Amino acid sequence: MFVSFEGCEGVGKSTQLRLLKEYLEKTGQHAVYVREPGSTAISEQIRNVILDKSNVAMTEMTEALLYAASRAQLVREVIKPALEKGELVICDRYVDSSIAYQGYGRELGAGLIRRINEPAVDDCMPDLTVFIDLSPENSWRGHRAADRLEQESNEFFDKVYNGFNREIEASNGRIVAVKPDIDKNVTSQKIISLMRERGIIK
Ligand code: TMP
Repeated sequence: MFVSFEGCEGVGKSTQLRLLKEYLEKTGQHAVYVREPGSTAISEQIRNVILDKSNVAMTEMTEALLYAASRAQLVREVIKPALEKGELVICDRYVDSSIAYQGYGRELGAGLIRRINEPAVDDCMPDLTVFIDLSPENSWRGHRAADRLEQESNEFFDKVYNGFNREIEASNGRIVAVKPDIDKNVTSQKIISLMRERGIIK
Protein backbone atom coordinates (compact mmCIF):
# COMPACT_ATOMS: atom_id res chain seq x y z
CA MET A 1 0.00 0.00 0.00
CA PHE A 2 1.10 3.53 -0.78
CA VAL A 3 -0.01 6.56 1.27
CA SER A 4 0.95 10.19 0.68
CA PHE A 5 0.53 13.21 2.94
CA GLU A 6 -0.25 16.67 1.61
CA GLY A 7 -1.01 20.13 2.91
CA CYS A 8 0.05 23.76 2.75
CA GLU A 9 3.02 25.08 4.75
CA GLY A 10 2.84 25.04 8.53
CA VAL A 11 -0.19 22.76 8.89
CA GLY A 12 1.57 20.25 11.15
CA LYS A 13 2.26 17.67 8.44
CA SER A 14 5.70 16.73 9.81
CA THR A 15 4.29 16.34 13.34
CA GLN A 16 1.51 14.08 12.04
CA LEU A 17 3.99 11.96 10.11
CA ARG A 18 6.09 11.62 13.27
CA LEU A 19 3.05 10.60 15.36
CA LEU A 20 1.98 8.06 12.73
CA LYS A 21 5.50 6.61 12.68
CA GLU A 22 5.46 6.36 16.49
CA TYR A 23 2.10 4.55 16.39
CA LEU A 24 3.27 2.12 13.71
CA GLU A 25 6.51 1.39 15.57
CA LYS A 26 4.67 0.88 18.86
CA THR A 27 2.30 -1.59 17.22
CA GLY A 28 5.08 -3.40 15.37
CA GLN A 29 4.06 -2.34 11.87
CA HIS A 30 6.87 -1.70 9.41
CA ALA A 31 6.80 1.06 6.81
CA VAL A 32 9.16 2.78 4.38
CA TYR A 33 9.20 6.55 4.98
CA VAL A 34 10.14 8.96 2.20
CA ARG A 35 9.76 12.66 1.52
CA GLU A 36 9.49 14.76 -1.61
CA PRO A 37 11.50 16.23 -3.06
CA GLY A 38 14.25 13.96 -1.75
CA SER A 39 14.90 10.54 -0.20
CA THR A 40 17.45 9.34 -2.74
CA ALA A 41 20.97 10.79 -3.10
CA ILE A 42 20.04 12.29 -6.49
CA SER A 43 16.62 13.54 -5.35
CA GLU A 44 18.16 15.26 -2.31
CA GLN A 45 20.61 17.06 -4.61
CA ILE A 46 17.67 18.18 -6.76
CA ARG A 47 15.87 19.31 -3.57
CA ASN A 48 18.82 21.55 -2.67
CA VAL A 49 18.73 23.17 -6.12
CA ILE A 50 14.95 23.74 -5.95
CA LEU A 51 14.84 25.19 -2.43
CA ASP A 52 18.09 27.22 -2.57
CA LYS A 53 17.17 30.85 -1.88
CA SER A 54 19.94 32.10 -4.15
CA ASN A 55 18.28 30.48 -7.19
CA VAL A 56 16.15 33.56 -7.88
CA ALA A 57 16.54 33.08 -11.64
CA MET A 58 14.79 29.68 -11.67
CA THR A 59 11.90 29.65 -14.15
CA GLU A 60 8.58 28.09 -13.17
CA MET A 61 8.96 25.43 -15.86
CA THR A 62 12.43 24.50 -14.57
CA GLU A 63 10.98 24.18 -11.08
CA ALA A 64 8.13 21.95 -12.28
CA LEU A 65 10.52 19.70 -14.23
CA LEU A 66 12.96 19.42 -11.31
CA TYR A 67 10.17 18.24 -8.99
CA ALA A 68 9.17 15.69 -11.64
CA ALA A 69 12.81 14.59 -12.10
CA SER A 70 13.25 14.11 -8.35
CA ARG A 71 10.02 12.08 -8.33
CA ALA A 72 11.07 9.91 -11.30
CA GLN A 73 14.20 8.89 -9.38
CA LEU A 74 12.36 8.24 -6.09
CA VAL A 75 9.64 6.14 -7.74
CA ARG A 76 12.13 3.89 -9.50
CA GLU A 77 14.81 3.69 -6.83
CA VAL A 78 12.66 3.37 -3.68
CA ILE A 79 8.85 3.43 -3.98
CA LYS A 80 8.27 0.78 -6.67
CA PRO A 81 10.82 -1.72 -5.31
CA ALA A 82 9.30 -1.33 -1.81
CA LEU A 83 5.72 -1.80 -3.08
CA GLU A 84 6.80 -4.86 -5.05
CA LYS A 85 8.12 -6.35 -1.79
CA GLY A 86 4.71 -5.72 -0.19
CA GLU A 87 5.91 -2.89 2.06
CA LEU A 88 3.77 0.01 3.21
CA VAL A 89 5.21 3.22 1.75
CA ILE A 90 4.46 6.56 3.42
CA CYS A 91 5.43 9.62 1.40
CA ASP A 92 5.61 13.19 2.71
CA ARG A 93 4.21 15.00 -0.40
CA TYR A 94 3.82 13.54 -3.89
CA VAL A 95 2.41 14.51 -7.28
CA ASP A 96 -0.59 16.38 -5.80
CA SER A 97 1.91 18.93 -4.42
CA SER A 98 3.15 19.57 -7.96
CA ILE A 99 -0.40 20.05 -9.21
CA ALA A 100 -1.27 22.41 -6.34
CA TYR A 101 2.00 24.40 -6.19
CA GLN A 102 3.18 24.43 -9.81
CA GLY A 103 -0.19 23.88 -11.51
CA TYR A 104 -2.28 26.31 -9.45
CA GLY A 105 0.22 28.34 -7.39
CA ARG A 106 2.57 29.07 -10.32
CA GLU A 107 -0.41 28.92 -12.72
CA LEU A 108 1.28 26.50 -15.13
CA GLY A 109 -2.03 24.61 -15.25
CA ALA A 110 -3.07 21.31 -13.70
CA GLY A 111 -3.21 19.59 -17.12
CA LEU A 112 0.37 20.46 -18.02
CA ILE A 113 1.68 19.36 -14.61
CA ARG A 114 -0.19 16.08 -14.91
CA ARG A 115 1.36 15.47 -18.34
CA ILE A 116 4.88 16.29 -17.12
CA ASN A 117 4.41 13.92 -14.20
CA GLU A 118 2.96 10.99 -16.12
CA PRO A 119 6.35 9.53 -17.03
CA ALA A 120 7.71 10.45 -13.57
CA VAL A 121 5.07 8.57 -11.53
CA ASP A 122 4.82 5.77 -14.12
CA ASP A 123 1.36 4.60 -12.94
CA CYS A 124 2.49 4.54 -9.33
CA MET A 125 -0.30 6.45 -7.56
CA PRO A 126 -1.12 6.44 -3.83
CA ASP A 127 -3.95 4.22 -2.53
CA LEU A 128 -4.75 7.03 -0.10
CA THR A 129 -3.68 10.66 0.17
CA VAL A 130 -4.20 12.40 3.51
CA PHE A 131 -4.67 16.14 3.00
CA ILE A 132 -4.16 18.08 6.22
CA ASP A 133 -6.82 20.67 5.64
CA LEU A 134 -5.82 23.99 7.16
CA SER A 135 -6.17 27.17 5.11
CA PRO A 136 -3.09 29.42 4.81
CA GLU A 137 -4.60 32.12 7.05
CA ASN A 138 -5.06 29.57 9.85
CA SER A 139 -1.69 27.87 9.46
CA TRP A 140 1.46 28.18 11.51
CA ARG A 141 3.52 29.30 8.51
CA GLY A 142 6.31 31.74 9.30
CA HIS A 143 7.41 30.06 12.49
CA ARG A 144 10.69 28.84 11.00
CA ALA A 145 13.36 29.99 8.55
CA ALA A 146 11.89 30.23 5.06
CA ASP A 147 13.28 28.39 2.02
CA ARG A 148 12.75 29.64 -1.55
CA LEU A 149 9.12 28.45 -1.75
CA GLU A 150 8.18 29.47 1.77
CA GLN A 151 9.06 33.08 0.92
CA GLU A 152 6.09 33.28 -1.46
CA SER A 153 3.17 35.67 -0.96
CA ASN A 154 -0.12 34.95 0.80
CA GLU A 155 -1.83 35.11 -2.59
CA PHE A 156 0.40 32.28 -3.84
CA PHE A 157 -0.51 30.06 -0.88
CA ASP A 158 -4.22 30.82 -1.34
CA LYS A 159 -3.94 29.55 -4.92
CA VAL A 160 -2.13 26.42 -3.70
CA TYR A 161 -4.84 25.71 -1.11
CA ASN A 162 -7.55 26.22 -3.70
CA GLY A 163 -5.63 23.85 -6.01
CA PHE A 164 -5.59 21.11 -3.39
CA ASN A 165 -9.34 21.48 -2.94
CA ARG A 166 -9.91 21.15 -6.69
CA GLU A 167 -7.75 18.02 -6.66
CA ILE A 168 -9.80 16.49 -3.84
CA GLU A 169 -13.00 16.92 -5.86
CA ALA A 170 -11.41 15.24 -8.89
CA SER A 171 -9.78 12.39 -6.97
CA ASN A 172 -12.72 9.96 -6.57
CA GLY A 173 -12.10 9.57 -2.87
CA ARG A 174 -8.35 8.97 -3.09
CA ILE A 175 -7.58 12.28 -1.38
CA VAL A 176 -9.23 12.66 2.02
CA ALA A 177 -9.24 16.02 3.82
CA VAL A 178 -8.51 15.77 7.53
CA LYS A 179 -9.20 18.93 9.54
CA PRO A 180 -6.47 19.29 12.15
CA ASP A 181 -7.58 19.63 15.75
CA ILE A 182 -5.89 22.04 18.18
CA ASP A 183 -4.68 18.86 19.91
CA LYS A 184 -2.18 17.10 17.63
CA ASN A 185 -2.99 13.73 19.20
CA VAL A 186 -6.65 14.06 18.23
CA THR A 187 -5.60 14.76 14.64
CA SER A 188 -3.29 11.75 14.74
CA GLN A 189 -6.16 9.53 15.92
CA LYS A 190 -8.30 10.75 13.01
CA ILE A 191 -5.55 9.81 10.55
CA ILE A 192 -4.93 6.42 12.14
CA SER A 193 -8.69 5.65 12.11
CA LEU A 194 -8.92 6.60 8.44
CA MET A 195 -5.98 4.36 7.53
CA ARG A 196 -7.44 1.48 9.56
CA GLU A 197 -10.86 1.88 7.91
CA ARG A 198 -9.16 1.63 4.51
CA GLY A 199 -7.39 -1.55 5.59
CA ILE A 200 -3.96 0.04 5.17
CA ILE A 201 -2.80 -0.44 8.76
CA LYS A 202 -3.93 -2.38 11.84
P1 TMP B 1 8.16 20.54 2.65
O1 TMP B 1 7.95 21.91 3.21
O2 TMP B 1 7.03 19.61 2.89
O3 TMP B 1 9.51 19.96 2.96
O4 TMP B 1 8.13 20.71 1.04
C1 TMP B 1 9.08 21.43 0.37
C2 TMP B 1 8.48 22.51 -0.49
O5 TMP B 1 8.33 22.07 -1.83
C3 TMP B 1 7.12 23.01 -0.06
O6 TMP B 1 7.13 24.43 -0.14
C4 TMP B 1 6.19 22.46 -1.12
C5 TMP B 1 7.05 22.39 -2.32
N1 TMP B 1 6.69 21.39 -3.34
C6 TMP B 1 6.24 21.82 -4.58
O7 TMP B 1 6.09 23.02 -4.83
N2 TMP B 1 5.97 20.88 -5.52
C7 TMP B 1 6.14 19.54 -5.32
O8 TMP B 1 5.89 18.73 -6.21
C8 TMP B 1 6.60 19.11 -4.00
C9 TMP B 1 6.80 17.66 -3.72
C10 TMP B 1 6.86 20.07 -3.06
